[in-house]
Amino acid sequence: MIVVSEISELKKIVSNWKQKKEIIGFCPTMGTLHAGHMDLVKVSKEKTTKTIVSIFINPTQFNDPKDFETYPKNTETDLKLCEENGVDLVFLPSVGVMYPKSETPIQMSIPSLQSTLCGRTRPGHFEGVLQIVSKLFHLTEANFGFFGLKDYQQYRIIKALTDELNFPIQIVGVPTKREADGLAMSSRNLRLSLKDRETATLIPRMFQLAKKTILSGERNLSVWREILTDFLLTGMNVKIDYLEVVDPFTLQPLSELRGDVLLATAVFVGDVRLIDNEIITCP
Ligand code: PAF
Repeated sequence: MIVVSEISELKKIVSNWKQKKEIIGFCPTMGTLHAGHMDLVKVSKEKTTKTIVSIFINPTQFNDPKDFETYPKNTETDLKLCEENGVDLVFLPSVGVMYPKSETPIQMSIPSLQSTLCGRTRPGHFEGVLQIVSKLFHLTEANFGFFGLKDYQQYRIIKALTDELNFPIQIVGVPTKREADGLAMSSRNLRLSLKDRETATLIPRMFQLAKKTILSGERNLSVWREILTDFLLTGMNVKIDYLEVVDPFTLQPLSELRGDVLLATAVFVGDVRLIDNEIITCP
């Protein structure tokens, strides 16, 4: 496995691969890798001939400086995991390499897809994501980009970016990997205390309850949201950032429970913010 930190080194290898007609798969990450990230690698290896993983905690997508400072870092373990899972190249740049100037004159956004969910409660977050993934897509010249569907809004926004602006990359959404008790895998789970980790299972259990109540005939959206909100708030140390029901394509709020709906939530358990979502089909 090759590990590079400089853009010039990455470009040299990529250009060599391109000459050999390799198909490049790209899995962007912020490190502290887990089985969910390795699912991205697995799908990439099935679809492509070379897999690149980037590990970069992107400062421009953190609206809360404390969140950036406390974001976990585990480079040594990450590299080991990548090697064991057959990654061909890890790109591990510094902030100075990705952002040689302290300010960028470009601001990117897709307002219609950013007005709800995390876009509403984390102002500036998706602007930072769009900026970094655009740079990384160009540097890796990837044919395919793999993104976890736990970050469903991120997936939709990046897909819209690449479709609208004709980026020569195909975006693939990979299903959320879950722990045995249903909690969506996330690098942030590591920051939960033992007690809060237990409380966090309220999130997957809330999705079970959501499906059960729909199946048992609940059709009133406000009542449904109230039932689910009350359930989450039975947990100690729980604060709901949002619990929204939106159209899975436009991400706009829905006024009725009909067809496929995206139920998405962001919940603080202690001071750790966890997100999850599920597309639920209302009969
Ligand atoms: O999902 C993430 O880990 C990040 O938002 C990404 C896509 C690596 C961009 O920094």
